[in-house]
Amino acid sequence: MSNWLVHGGAVLEGTVSVQGSKNAALPILAATLLVEEPVTLLNCPAIRDAENMLGILKSLGCSVKREADAVTVDSSTASGFVLPTALSGELRSSIFLLGSVLARFHEADAPYPGGCEIGNRPIDLHLWGLKRLNAQIEERGGRICCKGGNLSGAVVDLEYPSVGATENIMLAACRAAGETTICNAACEPEIVDLQQFLCACGFRVHGAGTPTVVIEGVERGHGTVFRVMPDRIVTGTYLAGAAVTGGDVTVTGTQPELIETLLGKLSECGCAVTRNADSVRVRAPKRLRGVGFTGTRPYPGFPTDLQPQLFAALSTAEGTSVIAENVFESRFRHAQELRKMGAKNRILDRTAIITGVKKLHGAFVTAHDLRGGAALVLAGLAAEGDTTIQHTERIERGYERMDSVIGALGGTVIRKENGIDEEEKTR
Ligand code: UD1
Repeated sequence: MSNWLVHGGAVLEGTVSVQGSKNAALPILAATLLVEEPVTLLNCPAIRDAENMLGILKSLGCSVKREADAVTVDSSTASGFVLPTALSGELRSSIFLLGSVLARFHEADAPYPGGCEIGNRPIDLHLWGLKRLNAQIEERGGRICCKGGNLSGAVVDLEYPSVGATENIMLAACRAAGETTICNAACEPEIVDLQQFLCACGFRVHGAGTPTVVIEGVERGHGTVFRVMPDRIVTGTYLAGAAVTGGDVTVTGTQPELIETLLGKLSECGCAVTRNADSVRVRAPKRLRGVGFTGTRPYPGFPTDLQPQLFAALSTAEGTSVIAENVFESRFRHAQELRKMGAKNRILDRTAIITGVKKLHGAFVTAHDLRGGAALVLAGLAAEGDTTIQHTERIERGYERMDSVIGALGGTVIRKENGIDEEEKTR
C-alpha cells in the first residue's frame, strides 16, 4: 500500500501533455495475442494496469519489451491458455484475454477478474457473447473454462452496451469462421481505437463507434506499429483540477471533442473553455457555480469515469448540484471521503445531492477506487491544509506519474511508499 501527501491551497496552472489511453491500451494489448508477429504500440501508458496486462502476456509466453512509451509484444512464442490467478485478480481487463486466448488457442482458463470496487461487475454479457460464437463455457471452482475449437460468426445482440463485452466479442470474432454482427454495441471511442488497431493488423472490422459492429473472420493477422489514442479521462481529470483549484490548465496531445460533456459542465460552472484541434484549456473563476443535474451514461453521455472528478469540483461550487450514477451501482465511495474534508453531500441510492461549501479542509482519506482516488487528489489540492490519501496504488492503476504532472502545474503531491493504514494507526 502507498500513501500520498497532497499540499492544499494549490492553484493549478500551466500546460501538460496527456498520456496514452488506459482503456484503449488494455484491449489492444490483449489483441496482440491474435497476431503471431511482433506488434509495437506507441504512446502505451506506463501505468499499473498496463504493466499487469504485460505481466499476464509474459506468463502466457509472449516476449515483451518496453522502451519509453513504446511497447513491443511478440506473441509468436506464446503457448499458454491458463491465465495466472494473482495477476488476473489485480486487473478486471484480464477478462479481455478470454476472447483473444480462445481465438488463438481454442481454449482458455481464467479466474474471475479483479479491478476497482465500484459495485458488482458481472461478466454475463462477455460469456453470453462468446457462447453465441460457439464457445463452450463452464464455470468451475471460481474459474471460467472455455473451449472453442470451432468459433463461428453470429449475430450477438447485447442486452446492454457493455464496453468490455463489445471488445471481448470483437477479439474472439476476428479469427472465427464467417461474419459476426454485434448489435447494441458500446460506442466508446476506445472501441474505435481497437478497431483501428485490428484493421492495421489485417483483420476486418467496421462499424465501431456506432451500435453495430461487424467483424469478418480471417485466419490470422500481421504485425504492425500502432499509436494508442490519448486518454480522454486523464485529460478531463486535469481540466477538472483547474476548475476545482481556480486555476488555468491546458492539456495538449488530446482530443477535446471526446470530452464535450465534461467541457459543457465546466462551462456551466463558469469556466472559460478554449478548444483547439488537439488541445484544450480551462480557466476557472474564483468560485464555481453548481450545475443542476448530471447523469452518467454510456458514450456519448457523461462518462462515469469522470463522475468523481466532477463531484469533487461541485463540492466547492456555489449552490446545490445533483449527480445520478446510472452506469455502476456503487460508485460514490469518494462521497464519504470528501465529507471527511468538509464537503456536504447526501447519497440516495444512485443519486448524490451536493451542496457546495466555500472551502474543503485537509484530512486522512482513502482512495477506494481509481477515479474516486483521483478526485480526492483534486479535492486535496484545493483544500486548506494537507491531505493524506491512502491506497494510492489504486490511482496508479490508471494515472502515469500523477505527482510529476501535478508538480508541473504548480501543485505538490509527495509519495510515501509503504504508508500506514488508518486502521493500523489506531490499533
Ligand atoms: C469499461 C472501462 C471503465 C468504464 C466502463 C464504463 C475499460 C478497461 N474499462 O469498463 O473504465 O468505467 O467501461 O464506461 O475499458 N455489465 C453487466 N454484465 C457484463 C458486463 C457489464 O451487467 O457482462 C454491467 C456492469 O456491471 C456495469 C455496466 O454494465 O454496470 C457497464 O459496464 P461495462 O460497460 O462493461 O464496463 P467495463 O467494460 O467493465
